[in-house]
Amino acid sequence: MTAFNKIFEAARLTRIAGEFGTPLYVYDEQTIRTQCRNLKNAFEGLPVRFLYAVKANDNPHILTIMHEEGMGYDTVSYEEVLLGLRVKSDPRQIFYTENNMTDQEMEAAIRSGVILNIGSMSRLKSFFSHPGSRECSIRLNPGIGDGHHHKVDTGNRDSKFGIRKDLIPECARLAASHGRKITGLHLHIGSGIRKPENLISAMGVLIEYAQYLPDLQFINFGGGMPIPYQEGDEPFDLAAFAMLAEKVIMDDYMKRDSGFRYYFEPGRWFTAQAGVLLTRVNTVKDQGNVSYLGTDTGLHHILRPALYDAYHAVVNLSRHDAPGNTLYTIAGNICESGDILATDRKLPESAEGDLLAICDAGAYGMTMASHYNRRALPAEVLVNGDTNILIRRRMSAGETVDRHLSDTGFQQN
Ligand SMILES: Cc1ncc(COP(=O)(O)O)c(C=O)c1O
Repeated sequence: MTAFNKIFEAARLTRIAGEFGTPLYVYDEQTIRTQCRNLKNAFEGLPVRFLYAVKANDNPHILTIMHEEGMGYDTVSYEEVLLGLRVKSDPRQIFYTENNMTDQEMEAAIRSGVILNIGSMSRLKSFFSHPGSRECSIRLNPGIGDGHHHKVDTGNRDSKFGIRKDLIPECARLAASHGRKITGLHLHIGSGIRKPENLISAMGVLIEYAQYLPDLQFINFGGGMPIPYQEGDEPFDLAAFAMLAEKVIMDDYMKRDSGFRYYFEPGRWFTAQAGVLLTRVNTVKDQGNVSYLGTDTGLHHILRPALYDAYHAVVNLSRHDAPGNTLYTIAGNICESGDILATDRKLPESAEGDLLAICDAGAYGMTMASHYNRRALPAEVLVNGDTNILIRRRMSAGETVDRHLSDTGFQQN
């Protein structure tokens, strides 16, 4: 099942593409809200809260939906912190997991009042030595990783993320010696986890190391809830996961004050299936062994296939009722031979002008988009009931180049 099959009608998407042009990201608000509610319902009655991983899709209109659904923001850069603060959230609802943060970023984060989550001993030392610091969270490397690709496995022992387990008692001593508090303990084992039991095991490790930290007020188990991208992918069994997680959480909670909280911080779970990238076929090319459909988008708009060999279902919206009897490889318009969006897909016999939907593209799509080859970014539309709202306008080629010239301070003759 793809996002397209479940959520969008071909006729509606065709109308939207006609009105707003391509390439175009389209998101369905109701699907995002349903994903939020499903997760909240699965943990109802437990001392569990959710943060939205802003990096998945940081369009401010989507951040607003998350805020309305009661989510705080999980941020991973000072820029995301600023975005979260400007969109809505109160600083205490913003969790900033630093990653090789600069002194200037730390200074700004301290001033902003967000919850800083520190992932190295050296940064912890500089934080505790700062006169403005009071408390922070720390990120543990649990030595258990998972993810849809080795590049998104963040919890393995050798990854760049988190503080080694054996250094956690030292973190506590350091805090005490500076008169500071470690109030949070965090991990994130990876994105799009394949085995939920890995997350459950890592949660156990986190709780084991929590015993070294006397001032803890919360534990954050990270994100990573997967979504099915292709036929045969098992959907994440949320109910089964919640049951296992509940046991781990409640065993620990029994020993805690009633205000103690546990967090998860998924990103993909909320938005991936709610989005499609619409693109127009402009070239049909037979290379002998491979038939290409060339499109008006590419890895600069959706990087996941090139970066992770990720699979996104592709639907030909112009011929969606016709049988898929022709094998195509879908190519982008970037000057890179790796700019392939989908390989060997069975689609109806297609033609120039056809409209394609690249499915399940609502997470790690637009946030990874770039101006590579000096291309313009796609526009974005949010579908809400019967209305289609433009949430990122399309910049023309001329505007894109003018902005580049102006940002670089280039004086045109
Ligand atoms: C620290 C952290 N938390 C949460 C997430 C969200 O992951 P996902 O979108 O797979 O839930 C990420 C993404 O990599 C992350 O780095």
